[in-house]
Amino acid sequence: MSGAEFKLRKLTYTDLPRVIAIERRCFPMPWSLSMFVLELSKPSGISLAALNDTRMLGYVICARYDEAYHVMNIAVEPNARRHGVARALLDGVLERGGREANYTLEVRVSNHAAIALYESYDFRAVGKRPRYYSDNGEDAIIMWRADGNPWEV
Ligand SMILES: CC(C)(COP(=O)(O)OP(=O)(O)OC[C@H]1O[C@@H](n2cnc3c(N)ncnc32)[C@H](O)[C@@H]1OP(=O)(O)O)[C@@H](O)C(=O)NCCC(=O)NCCS
Repeated sequence: MSGAEFKLRKLTYTDLPRVIAIERRCFPMPWSLSMFVLELSKPSGISLAALNDTRMLGYVICARYDEAYHVMNIAVEPNARRHGVARALLDGVLERGGREANYTLEVRVSNHAAIALYESYDFRAVGKRPRYYSDNGEDAIIMWRADGNPWEV
């Protein structure tokens, strides 16, 4: 699979059954349907799907807050990983939200794949939320991507 084999479009409510199926394969504490519905209902959010023909490969959910966009959720179907799908999704978010805007997210300290992805997009660790994940008590790393000096956000 190459980048030419998938495309991005806005995520819609009718995508949610397929999103939930991927979500459950990707996370120990998957989001519920109502969490996705809530995020999709926010007009200022950026929610995108990556599709190969009609097959859903991945999605990203990004919410708009006063000071920054918050990347709330990003996941790629296990069989479709390492083909640039997450990169395409993040590029789509940055195109729509603006490369000069501020972005933040939380990630498990053990999630080396996601941390490497975010670092390659100039997200930097700025702190931790101790025992943020209730399934195993793992800490979250707080990351920011800010135009200019990321340490002054
Ligand atoms: C993290 C995740 C979204 C990456 O999706 P992906 O489509 O495989 O990522 P891409 O192919 O676009 O990779 C982009 C870059 O991310 C980094 N990366 C991705 N997977 C990696 C891995 N397993 N190990 C190390 N680096 C990795 C690399 O820098 C990679 O660039 P490269 O392929 O040129 O080396 C995917 O592994 C996933 O869905 N994980 C489960 C859900 C999750 O943890 N989401 C993040 C929650 S904070």
